Amino acid sequence: MAYYADDLIEQVRSANDIVDVVGSYVSLKKKGNNYWGLCPFHTEKTPSFSVNAGKQLYKCFGCGEGGNVFSFVMKYENLTFPEAVKTLAERAGISLPEQHYSESAQKLRNKKDRLLEVNKAAATYFYKCLKSEHGKKGLEYLKNRGLTDETIIHFGLGYAGINGKLIVDYLREQGYTDEEIRDSGLATNSERNGLSSPFWNRVMYPIFNAKNQVIGFGGRVMGDAQPKYLNSPETDIFDKRRNLYGFNYARTSRTDNFILCEGYMDVISLHQAGFTQAVASLGTAFTEEQALMLKRMGRRILLSYDSDGAGTKAALRALEILRNTGLSGRVINLKPYKDPDEFIKGLGADEFQKRLDEAENGFYFEIRILSNGYDLSDPETRSEFNNEIAKRLLRFETADERENYLVGIADKYMIKPDNLRELLRREAGRLAEKERKQIEYGRTSGNGNRQTARAQDGAGNNLKKIPKSQAELLTKLSEDPLIYRVVSKYVSPADFTDETCRKVAEAVFATASEGKVFNAAAYLGEFEDSKERTLVAGILQTEGLSAELMMETGEGGAPPPEDEGRVLRDLVIAVKTSEMDELGRAEDDAENAFKRQYELRMEIDNLKKMNSLT
Ligand code: UTP
Ligand code: MN
Repeated sequence: MAYYADDLIEQVRSANDIVDVVGSYVSLKKKGNNYWGLCPFHTEKTPSFSVNAGKQLYKCFGCGEGGNVFSFVMKYENLTFPEAVKTLAERAGISLPEQHYSESAQKLRNKKDRLLEVNKAAATYFYKCLKSEHGKKGLEYLKNRGLTDETIIHFGLGYAGINGKLIVDYLREQGYTDEEIRDSGLATNSERNGLSSPFWNRVMYPIFNAKNQVIGFGGRVMGDAQPKYLNSPETDIFDKRRNLYGFNYARTSRTDNFILCEGYMDVISLHQAGFTQAVASLGTAFTEEQALMLKRMGRRILLSYDSDGAGTKAALRALEILRNTGLSGRVINLKPYKDPDEFIKGLGADEFQKRLDEAENGFYFEIRILSNGYDLSDPETRSEFNNEIAKRLLRFETADERENYLVGIADKYMIKPDNLRELLRREAGRLAEKERKQIEYGRTSGNGNRQTARAQDGAGNNLKKIPKSQAELLTKLSEDPLIYRVVSKYVSPADFTDETCRKVAEAVFATASEGKVFNAAAYLGEFEDSKERTLVAGILQTEGLSAELMMETGEGGAPPPEDEGRVLRDLVIAVKTSEMDELGRAEDDAENAFKRQYELRMEIDNLKKMNSLT
């Protein structure tokens, strides 16, 4: 871990306005005091992700994720804290001193760097091999498949020698240890052969990450033998779920879409034909992580999967993944060809562009495939089909969307829209019943609870629950030190029951007592644990019910001043009440707890007699 001085970190933080930084990844709209957008950390269709320019903090009211500009960049770009500091320092043109790493971080960093080097060296070897005498067969194969020299260089294609020893020998010569060669996934140990590579007599496709670094390989046989492809196993640098073939180029293509394909060869051939927005998953099914990578670029997704049964099934699955990520995809019709590679060879790029323009809506595609399984001339199967459509229409969140699709589908399959509406109502009733039961059994967590400020970690696990009134009071006090004079008469940090919350209270009370506005974004830096940091970011951005209501009506701002004293009184009562509840739950030291509860009850009674604290 690199260590930078606190004031340097603060300098970097304050030089990077959170609205600018987040706004470069997420489209934000100003509403009330905050900026709002779709949360990049969970799936949603209506914005619940807010960025607070005054506090330089962000928070998602849907998933609970929150923090300052460093946490955002860490989470979004999957960086460590020092890496985030570095990125943002560069962005602001601030130069950082030489880095110092802790021993273990240095080790992992070194290891990853070494693995990247091994892969790069291997790619160089494979490429040289392709251009050498014994790579002739490989080069011929690629040329026969219509690839130009330029394309071969662009994608760094190569050939693995005639046996699995050559690459190992080469890497050893380059100074890599057997352990490093093994850890790179390029070779395995066996008793009979010693260290040797499964990649031999194959054309090699290096796989790049978004930074253009080689992280693994796919190797194809030059004929019909099985398996057609061998792929590098996952390693410390090769995460198949979080990378896409061709993404290093596609991310900078000037198009409003990505073309998602099944195979390496599809991507290469599309890029060669000018469709540099093509990407493919890595020998595994398309994943949600990959969908999120694409989602962040804000472009449309067009599927170009094989037109056979397996390809159709994979396309349906990919559409589902996209849906889970809040994206909708369209499907390119490749008929009469099997895959984009063959299509381009058969009909050319212009015709492919036409197919792109005519790509079918993903939902229509799905229903069309579904319809193949039903004999629509038979009344009974026909009703089953209609029912199935109604079930799927329920996925659409807004009534408008549902209705539009309903009308479209009804027209396509000659169903009376009213009949379909009736089926939809019935299915909606069934679904509601199911959900109601789930709540009764306590299986869903339910998110209607306004009494606790919830925070979650990135995996969606709920963190500790903090009484909402406590969080709200700290938020107010951090923003407006003038209320300290009033509040401190009745509340002190000791009233905060949760340990983290009490820590925050001590800091906020101390700052407010000096009449200063609390620097929440800087304070977050004191928390090393990311869960605790998220929690603190949540605590310090807890809006009161009145503000929430105003936000919903788009007005924003504080309640009228004459109400301030009453709002504070209610809030202090709520804090005391929540403290009392917590004490009721505490099992140890029951006698003291009882005494304190008695005091609290008196205090609350007195507060209730006052109209206002001011
Ligand atoms: P395809 O069989 O469609 O391969 O598998 P392709 O890329 O179009 O290659 P060509 O045109 O036949 O040469 C699609 C993807 O599935 C993975 C690879 O990522 C491949 O690109 N795959 C396929 C494997 O990992 N192993 C296999 O044996 C086959
Ligand atoms: Mn294919």
